[in-house]
Amino acid sequence: MNTLMLALPGSDAFAGRLSELTGIPLGRVESHRFPDGEAYLRVESDCRDRSLVLVCTLDRPDDKLLPLIFLADAVRDLGAVRVGLVAPYLAYMRQDRRFQQGEAVTSRTFAGLLSRYVEWLVTVDPHLHRYTSLAQIYSIPNRVVHAAEPLAAWIKAHVDRPVLIGPDEESKQWIAAVAERAAAPYVVLRKVRHADGTVEVSSPDLAAQRKRTPVVLDDIVSSAGTMIETVKPLVAAHMRPPVCLAVHALFSKAAEEKLRRAGAGRIASTTTVPHASNAIDIAPLLVPAVKEFAL
Ligand code: R5P
Repeated sequence: MNTLMLALPGSDAFAGRLSELTGIPLGRVESHRFPDGEAYLRVESDCRDRSLVLVCTLDRPDDKLLPLIFLADAVRDLGAVRVGLVAPYLAYMRQDRRFQQGEAVTSRTFAGLLSRYVEWLVTVDPHLHRYTSLAQIYSIPNRVVHAAEPLAAWIKAHVDRPVLIGPDEESKQWIAAVAERAAAPYVVLRKVRHADGTVEVSSPDLAAQRKRTPVVLDDIVSSAGTMIETVKPLVAAHMRPPVCLAVHALFSKAAEEKLRRAGAGRIASTTTVPHASNAIDIAPLLVPAVKEFAL
């Protein structure tokens, strides 16, 4: 099928790389914000009878969702026959139940909304905790790509005698997968998140790991509170400066600086969310799924 890729603002680099790897041409979208904050979008490429791949990583999702919906609707209006979404980072997966009475289960609403505007979805390691698959909330066909392989390859290439450290039970799924591929041991800690937003992580027994380099691995770093609390006992135990590794580098304001002050060594992440720590190119992993849906 005649296919075209378009990037939403903030996803240009990722879309460029994916276009290069898939051979799907990258079209042009003009966009800006009016002085009152409303979004303006104009598709400069011909969409008629084409299969469209929209690329939009969904960190800071509240700013990105409306332009994405506008673009999905516009390309269909301009004659596209199929519209899919590559969202290297998929937002709103963590509010997967009502933790306190009255809360909105935003994961469900967000999924319902996206499912109405695009016909397929490709993403990288969404935060599946209480949901076991995206199909529980997304009604469209989807492919989930796992970053375990490139994370393990990066660890093998850059870390001397690694021991992987997972901050909490949730992280065990990806810690175990990466550790196996990196042929490294792993330790999973216990995290308690208090109502005021503070995070407490139980101190592990690290005696057996003293001669190794700790690699703290999590799917998401946002406030970095979880990583900071995980790094603290490692620093207190006089281990080597912990390498901090994330799939999705959301890093809210000052988070990276705080993590460094807590004693982190190298901080690295995949390219799902643009950030200075990006060191692991994830785009090649998405190629088969994108081709399967779009071509
Ligand atoms: C937990 O549910 C996730 O796996 C991450 O541990 C969490 O989102 C990290 O958030 P923060 O950096 O704000 O502690």
